[in-house]
Amino acid sequence: MKEQLLKLEKEALLELKGINDPSGLEKFRIKYLGKKGLLTAGMKKLKDLPAGERPEAGKLANVVKGNLTGHFEEARERVASGKAEGASFLDVTLPGREPLRGNLHPVTLVIKEVCQIFSRMGFMVVKGPNVELDYYNFEALNLPKDHPARDMQDTFYISGNVVLRTHTSPIQIRVMEAKKPPVSVIAPGKVYRRDSDVSHTPMFHQVEGLLVDKDVSFGDLKGTLTSFVHQMFGSDTSLRFRPSFFPFTEPSAEVDIRCVMCGGKGCRTCSHTGWLEILGSGMVDPNVYGFVDYDPEVYTGFAFGMGIERIAMLKYGINDIQLFFKNDMRFLRQF
Ligand code: DAH
Repeated sequence: MKEQLLKLEKEALLELKGINDPSGLEKFRIKYLGKKGLLTAGMKKLKDLPAGERPEAGKLANVVKGNLTGHFEEARERVASGKAEGASFLDVTLPGREPLRGNLHPVTLVIKEVCQIFSRMGFMVVKGPNVELDYYNFEALNLPKDHPARDMQDTFYISGNVVLRTHTSPIQIRVMEAKKPPVSVIAPGKVYRRDSDVSHTPMFHQVEGLLVDKDVSFGDLKGTLTSFVHQMFGSDTSLRFRPSFFPFTEPSAEVDIRCVMCGGKGCRTCSHTGWLEILGSGMVDPNVYGFVDYDPEVYTGFAFGMGIERIAMLKYGINDIQLFFKNDMRFLRQF
């Protein structure tokens, strides 16, 4: 038995030396180490030995098994790293393997594009904190204490007066606190709401815009946003300004674009209206200027905010917001 085991080991090691490719390795593994392999068969014979010889033979069998497994693993590494002895598979005439190259996330791409469009119009890109004081997220934006948007249902509260910002609008206040007019900023970032279903995620992205100066009119707002829509969705995209309400703007308007799916005929995406809402906007409410010490008799301005995932879905024809957060490479590689 002892001799048989040692002979098996010697043969196996010799054979292993000559193996230079993965398929050879696999054949070797099955032949010697597999469930029906020679070594296993040898070990099964142990029980037929006289009781006195069994312990010693058993020990040896285990040593051989350990040895073969160890050498096998080494051979596997050797083959994987291409250092096989006498191997001749380095063909220097083959073209190099192209390394897998990453690409930007569609949300990042849209943020960059929106910021670029507004940068070209003279807006400066700024950021604000994700963990925000109630004061900036609500109070100074003219959202009174009993406003439904402040409900615990919709807002993640860190403590009584600290929240995860529910929109990027608090950045408006921080900018106006820090600088006197003229200001024109564009502010992208993450926002958080207690919302999670097929069409809502608890975190998503917005871009906020603000411009305040002397003699800024609703016409400036319309011109700026029309130019944005044409650059973002194509110059033949029709848009409309629809009266709306936001506590921090007066008057307020939502901007709709012609449905990118059906061209305005009416489909599921646009709920058969032919239009898709893409952003909220308006003239900064004079009440807001009171919080930042701007004189509403001297200055006027406009603000707007849009959801990035929504813009990305419309631009790229994506029908499921969850796709942005699943990190499925098959989806992400398409951008
Ligand atoms: N903050 C609003 C929201 O999250 C969007 C918005 C509307 C921003 C009007 C604005 C604005 O700056 O003027 O729904």
